[in-house]
Amino acid sequence: MNAIIQLNHIDKSYVNGKIRNQVLNDFSRSFTHRCFAVLAGPSGSGKSSLLNILATLDRPDAGEYWLNGSQVSFDNKKKLTELRKQNFGFVFQSFNLIPVLNALENVELPLTLFEYTKEERSELAQQALELVGLGDKTKKRPYEMSGGEQQRVAIARAIARHPTIIFADEPTANLDKQNALNIIHLMQRLNEDEGLSFIIASHDEKVIRAGKEIVNLGE
Ligand SMILES: Nc1ncnc2c1ncn2[C@@H]1O[C@H](COP(=O)(O)OP(=O)(O)OP(=O)(O)O)[C@@H](O)[C@H]1O
Ligand SMILES: [Mg+2]
Repeated sequence: MNAIIQLNHIDKSYVNGKIRNQVLNDFSRSFTHRCFAVLAGPSGSGKSSLLNILATLDRPDAGEYWLNGSQVSFDNKKKLTELRKQNFGFVFQSFNLIPVLNALENVELPLTLFEYTKEERSELAQQALELVGLGDKTKKRPYEMSGGEQQRVAIARAIARHPTIIFADEPTANLDKQNALNIIHLMQRLNEDEGLSFIIASHDEKVIRAGKEIVNLGE
């Protein structure tokens, strides 16, 4: 099978004082290339916890994580950082744009971690902004843009290097209905036309309806 990520028998719990909260219990699942997967379930069901493990931002208590056929070790922080840098893009609920930078500069910023020339960075950022329909707003600062436009900049930032997989945690939660639908359609288009893979944690019915596959937590 064409799996990018394979999770086997993952356990994750949080301990608060004497209370152990088992969030994931023997969880196994694979995610394929070009997936558009939604992690769904009520608040507290573990969507963000699972997304953070998939994104290697948090480590499971037990179980295996395979990426493109190689087992990932959670012990080597440096390697994990490199793995994220090479393979993953991130989209957050609150956009996380830098206010003093314009759209183009926001998309360029993470590219400075790679060995691109200034011209290459600018070219990749411009292309990504065109893909999200903001080719004519590259000089706008975040405060000059709507929430929907800011989230599109954040998506451009996540896709600029064509990462293997894009993780999004509640990407529509700060948007009104129409902007939320626009963002969903944009992600669907990037999935269909550009072959980008998405794993999205969301309790938004509109996002869940758009999912090609739904991982239902808390059932
Ligand atoms: N760092 C942490 N320390 C302790 N408990 C945590 C931690 N992170 C999450 N939890 C607990 O784990 C459970 C799952 O949390 P998680 O954030 O994954 O849920 P969620 O499905 O994303 O919820 P929401 O829809 O509200 O975002 C919750 O009961 C939460 O309180
Ligand atoms: Mg969450």
